[in-house]
Amino acid sequence: DEPMSRMLVTGGAGFIGSNFVRHVVEHTDDEVTVLDKLTYAGDPRTLEGLPQSRVHLVQGDVADAGLVDGLVAGHDVVVHFAAESHNDNSLRDPSPFVRTNLIGTYELLEAVRRYEKRYHHISTDEVYGDLELDDPARFTESTPYNPSSPYSSTKAGSDLLVRAWVRSFGVQATLSNCSNNYGPFQHVEKFIPRQITNVLDGDRPKLYGAGQNVRDWIHVDDHNAAVLRIIERGSIGETYLIGADGEQNNKDVVELILELMGQPRDAYDHVNDRAGHDLRYAIDSTRLRTELGWEPRFSDFCSGLADTIEWYRANEAWWRPQKAATEAKYRAAGQ
Ligand code: NAD
Ligand code: DAU
Repeated sequence: DEPMSRMLVTGGAGFIGSNFVRHVVEHTDDEVTVLDKLTYAGDPRTLEGLPQSRVHLVQGDVADAGLVDGLVAGHDVVVHFAAESHNDNSLRDPSPFVRTNLIGTYELLEAVRRYEKRYHHISTDEVYGDLELDDPARFTESTPYNPSSPYSSTKAGSDLLVRAWVRSFGVQATLSNCSNNYGPFQHVEKFIPRQITNVLDGDRPKLYGAGQNVRDWIHVDDHNAAVLRIIERGSIGETYLIGADGEQNNKDVVELILELMGQPRDAYDHVNDRAGHDLRYAIDSTRLRTELGWEPRFSDFCSGLADTIEWYRANEAWWRPQKAATEAKYRAAGQ
């Protein structure tokens, strides 16, 4: 197999990053250092149970140039998940999005340039803007960038920095843009965990607007298997779109959650819509499938969702500390 390497995983105490660390421990011999600021979205308990001989946590900021320099120097590969990740927060206060997503990426790029390290950049389908509901088109690697929110515009900007550092400085980077993830350890501010934990609390799911907006759902383990494949076999300088043909509108997802949790399908509230709310995302992942041979393993959204509901039922101690403060912010916005 591949030789052992030392991997620096930024944002590895968050949702996707922590699931990635678990995936790497299971599928490689690599050693992992997690660099994570432990913001409201990061939680060291998320890494509990992983072998301490192979996983180390450093609490710190990706925008801290000195810290990043030393860490990058001592690793072979940098996988950059750390970001401010929630659109609704970016509408309330964009400033940490600019600092973490743009300045943080810049500092990592300068360090991987200095030490000639391999870099993989985690991004989102939101950089492409949105599609009409009746448009048969899906996003591909050549779709023009057209982000809508402070969150997605800072992600788009960070992608463009990576591409420029590849072209101008020969940085050995790959990029991936994935659709909406679901699965264990997702923060209760996000759509699916918010609704599951509302129902567990005897509260009702909250649907923005009419709920016709479409998201292209993928299980977090399928995303992470694709990321590892790109790190091992992707072509330097290239972008890969990651998606599992999981388009669903929000109303259907809320109704499915209610049904799976034994509630009437109409037991939810319509709340204020998100400002500038993107209508539809859809990924064409042909390139990843044909060039790198990746296929999603969680092709049944309903059973993946049922497992996720069970995970939140069984892990209340993990999400409970975040729930009240998250709901207070939404209440203040009429959401
Ligand atoms: P998350 O909010 O759950 O986790 C983000 C992590 O980054 C947290 O542990 C947080 O403490 C850490 N962090 C934040 N600012 C930091 C800083 N300045 N320095 C170091 N660490 C910092 O986010 P997520 O949903 O796991 O998303 C991870 C990445 O995947 C992001 O880059 C996001 O844009 C991208 N992405 C997410 C999705 C999705 O559906 N959630 C889809 C596609 C791409
Ligand atoms: O597409 C990838 C993106 O997916 C990632 O880049 C982001 O980091 C991630 O947060 C996610 O962004 P979204 O804005 O699509 O996800 P969110 O979970 O916030 O919302 C999903 C949809 O559900 C969206 O149309 C808004 C809607 N929504 C959300 C919440 C929290 C509701 O209807 N009710 C809610 O309570």
